Amino acid sequence: MPFLGCCKKRNTMSLASGHNLVSLEGEELARQERDWQGYSEGIVRLHPGRWLFPSTFKRFADEYYNFKLKPDDVVLLTWPKCGTTWLQEIMWTMRYNPDLNNPMAAAPVNARVPFLEMDTLLKTKNIDPIGPDHPLMQGFKKMCPGREPENGVFLQMCELAPEPRTFKSHLALPLLPTDLLKTSKAVYMARNPKDAVVSFFHHSRIFKNHDFKGTFEEFVQYFLDDDCVYGPYWLHLKEAWKQRKNPNLHFMFFEDLKNNNMEELKKLDKFLGTNLSQEQLDNVAHYTSFAEMKARDAVLGAGSEIFFNVDIVQKDGGFFRQGKVGDWKGKYTPELEAKMDKWIKKNLGDFGIEFKYGV
Ligand code: A3P
Repeated sequence: MPFLGCCKKRNTMSLASGHNLVSLEGEELARQERDWQGYSEGIVRLHPGRWLFPSTFKRFADEYYNFKLKPDDVVLLTWPKCGTTWLQEIMWTMRYNPDLNNPMAAAPVNARVPFLEMDTLLKTKNIDPIGPDHPLMQGFKKMCPGREPENGVFLQMCELAPEPRTFKSHLALPLLPTDLLKTSKAVYMARNPKDAVVSFFHHSRIFKNHDFKGTFEEFVQYFLDDDCVYGPYWLHLKEAWKQRKNPNLHFMFFEDLKNNNMEELKKLDKFLGTNLSQEQLDNVAHYTSFAEMKARDAVLGAGSEIFFNVDIVQKDGGFFRQGKVGDWKGKYTPELEAKMDKWIKKNLGDFGIEFKYGV
């Protein structure tokens, strides 16, 4: 069991990271549960930071914070919908498949590049228990022989992944091990908030574990209020931006990866020390292009229907939606766009970050 600090009130708990975890209650919880029907076990907020999670986060929070890192680990970090899956496939191809001949490529990407806190996101009444024949469980059994799924399928896959390990997390830096950037390397990818929101709205409707029932306008309001799971977009970004000169953090943008793909792959190659030839870099670019990834639809692979609201996928498309910069255009009403612009301006302040919006 993780260390659970003492709590004055029944609905609070101290975490190893120094955060105070508080369960939402009353009207706030009722509103969340009405609009996000996947979070069937309650919601918690962590202070400071106002990070928001399904309450299942409690079970593993300290284990994420105390996760033992190794010097050749590479951890991929993003706020949700900023292109993590793309980065997972790029990293895995660069590190383990630059000649495109590794048979493991057929396994689901989340089994090859495990998602640290995914156990937190999957416990909901909307998702049937993942059976032993599901490709994810087979990947788990192979990677973690003798281990119990109850102790975290993805957590243990991260722990026992073949070295050098690559894994991903959407957790903000203050919730991750303090030695992350001393012991290992991390890649942080940012995406402009207008595209990230459009993408997250779609994601939250198609995935049963979120099961968002509201309108786009309501979704944007959740985002602007920092009330989506994972919490404040800007704070997440600022925590990584502060570290951008740390030699063990490579900070990059979705928009640059899209617009100057080869240039960005070369920077990653240098950061990782993979020393790929031009032919291998071309392999990576081709194999991880939007068209190729969409055609393979390798996010979850076979068995993915247990995670998706199939009717919405059939109507509005699946995980690989557009993969573009500037797809937000035409999606916001003028009022909503003005609200978003004001919020962006206020939060950018003297931050020094500049997004490309595809204008
Ligand atoms: P859209 O919904 O705008 O299409 P994440 O993996 O963090 O959930 O991010 C998903 C977003 O990245 C989606 O954006 C998805 O289509 C996009 N994406 C995934 N693979 C991509 C690729 N190879 N090239 C460009 N975008 C990609």
